[in-house]
Amino acid sequence: MQTAAELDVLRNHVKDLTASGETLALVPTMGALHDGHLTLVREARKRADRIAVSIFVNPTQFGPNEDLDAYPRQLEEDSRLLEGEGVDLLWAPRVDAMYPAGFASTIRVAEVSEGFCGAQRPGHFDGVATVVCKLFNQVRPDIALFGEKDWQQLAVIRRMARDLDLSRPHADDIIGVPTVREADGLAMSSRNRYLSQENRAAAATLPRAMQEAIARIRDGQEVLPTLQMLEDELLGAGFERVDYAALADAESLQELEAVQERAMKLLVAARIGGTRLIDNMAV
Ligand code: PAF
Repeated sequence: MQTAAELDVLRNHVKDLTASGETLALVPTMGALHDGHLTLVREARKRADRIAVSIFVNPTQFGPNEDLDAYPRQLEEDSRLLEGEGVDLLWAPRVDAMYPAGFASTIRVAEVSEGFCGAQRPGHFDGVATVVCKLFNQVRPDIALFGEKDWQQLAVIRRMARDLDLSRPHADDIIGVPTVREADGLAMSSRNRYLSQENRAAAATLPRAMQEAIARIRDGQEVLPTLQMLEDELLGAGFERVDYAALADAESLQELEAVQERAMKLLVAARIGGTRLIDNMAV
């Protein structure tokens, strides 16, 4: 596996790896890799000849009171894991290589980024869209893979790629990979490691309560009281706050108060022991 920390080095490696017309997949990450990330890499392996993974803890997507400093950084361990998966290229830029002095541009994707996590974390998706657009332009992959756990993030990135006519990758080549879950159903996340043993056990209420809510909605029960029950169940299990529990159109993320004839998602963000967990499931 080649590793690049500077843009010119990255570009030379990409050129060498694709010199005979090989296709290239990019898996963007912030590191602290778990099985969810490795599933993205394995999916990439099925779809492209070469795999590049980026590891960059992107400061512009963290709010002033969020966990930028505490976010786990373990480049050596991550690098070993990626090597074991047969990744060809690791792009791990420093902050000043990504955002040199004088950097002044931001990509803002209206509407789809405004509700849910966008409303709770002002500027978060501007930071995500900007860094992902840069990663796409730096690596110029044929395809890029993202976990569906961050469903709104995926919707924002696809919208950006469509709106800006990106070609490497094209919006249709931005691939969402189903959420990987722990044995008790909790969605894998680098932030799960912040949870105490007690909170980790209680956190499994989140996917369980979501499944129950989906079963009730499919059973014809009203949406808003069902969402209220879901919130109450989480608070009763030890979550200190539910940022949102909502039914939404799966693509536009428009919030829905009743079931409709279209693809829908149940989206939840809730905090336990100071850790914010998000999850989503098809309804
Ligand atoms: O999902 C993540 O890990 C990050 O938001 C991403 C897409 C790598 C952008 O920093």
